[in-house]
Order: sequence, then structure tokens, then C-alpha cells
Amino acid sequence: MVHANHALLTMIKILAIPGSLRWNSSSNIILNHIVSSAPEGMLFEVYDGIGTLPHFNDPEEVPPVVIEFKQRIKKADAVLICTPEYAFGIPGSLKNALDWTVSSGEFLNKHVGLITASSQGEKSHAALLLVLTAISANIGEDASLLISFVRSKLDSSGKIKDEVVANDVRNVIQSLASAARKN
Ligand SMILES: Cc1cc2nc3c(=O)[nH]c(=O)nc-3n(C[C@H](O)[C@H](O)[C@H](O)COP(=O)(O)O)c2cc1C
Repeated sequence: MVHANHALLTMIKILAIPGSLRWNSSSNIILNHIVSSAPEGMLFEVYDGIGTLPHFNDPEEVPPVVIEFKQRIKKADAVLICTPEYAFGIPGSLKNALDWTVSSGEFLNKHVGLITASSQGEKSHAALLLVLTAISANIGEDASLLISFVRSKLDSSGKIKDEVVANDVRNVIQSLASAARKN
């Protein structure tokens, strides 16, 4: 009996974490593009709460909003971070969110994709790769992408107009999905 390919695909749940709190930031435009053009077999859920997490502390009782964030990571088959660079570094809210997971280990062996979409972005991209290594995330070779001069790669309606970038983004998503499926 011949099955259609899509029937054989395991559904992969991906938690997308934007690094910018601005809904119309270029990195969020790219994330929306990814979510709205998700290939069959991939379910994206956007976590839009990094701005609501309190500053990292080592409290006796972890705040409920942080517990919920950690549970969302745990339940996901993979995580995709899409972020700009601010002041040559990782946006503070995103770094704070990741700091909450350092001792509790939600990212341990978690498949993670990283897209830095910024004017330049090299420093934040490199710093994030280091942070993700520190929290033992599993970042495949093809699952990270730096998109510099991002504004010039988008059209006025928010689509990715640069074909090379659009293709690179597709490759990151495919690579993340196939890594998660191998589990
Ligand atoms: C406070 C602030 C600091 C920024 N610092 C950098 C930076 O160090 N490197 C960089 O590539 N872009 C930097 N940018 C630009 C953003 O990363 C982003 O590419 C730019 O704001 C594009 O606009 P959008 O993401 O808001 O659409 C900065 C932007 C802001 C608002």
C-alpha cells in the first residue's frame, strides 16, 4: 500500500521565541513569515511573553509566569529563536529569559534554531551561540543563520524579497525539523 508522504510525517512542535518586543521589528516579520509558511508536519507556537518575565533572580519560589515559560520549552520538540542585535549584544529581555533556564536545564539537548536578523548582528549571533552552548542546547550546523542588513531583505509588505535569504530561512527550518524527527 502506498502512503502519501505527508501521512508519514510526525508532527513537530516548535516553540518560536522572538528576541524583539516590537511586533513590527524585522526579526518578528521574519518569524511571522516562517510561522505562516510552515511546512506540513510542523506546528509553530509563538511565545510572546519574554517582556513579562521578571528579572532573573534565584528566588525560593519561581514565579508562575516563569514556570509557564519553562513548561512551554519542555513540551516543545524544538525551539526557534529569531532576534535582532541591540548595542552589540543579545537583547536584554531575551538574555533574561534564557538566564531563567540555566540551572533548571530546559534546553538540555533541545534542538534549537537561531536566526539573527539585524543591521549587522554578528556579535549578538556569536554571543547567543555561546549562551546556547552554555545551556547545552543542540544547535545543528545548518540551524543557525545570520541575516545582516535585514531591512534591505524585506519588502514593504513584510515579505522576504531576497531569494537567497528566503532559501536560507527555509533550510534552517528544514534542518531543525529533521533534527527533531530523528529523536
Ligand atoms: C536600541 C537599539 C540598538 C541597536 N543596536 C544594534 C547593534 O548593535 N547592531 C545591529 O546590528 N543592529 C542594532 N540595532 C538595529 C536593530 O538590531 C534592528 O536591525 C533594526 O532596529 C531594524 O529594525 P527593526 O528590527 O526594529 O525592524 C539596534 C536597534 C536598537 C533599537
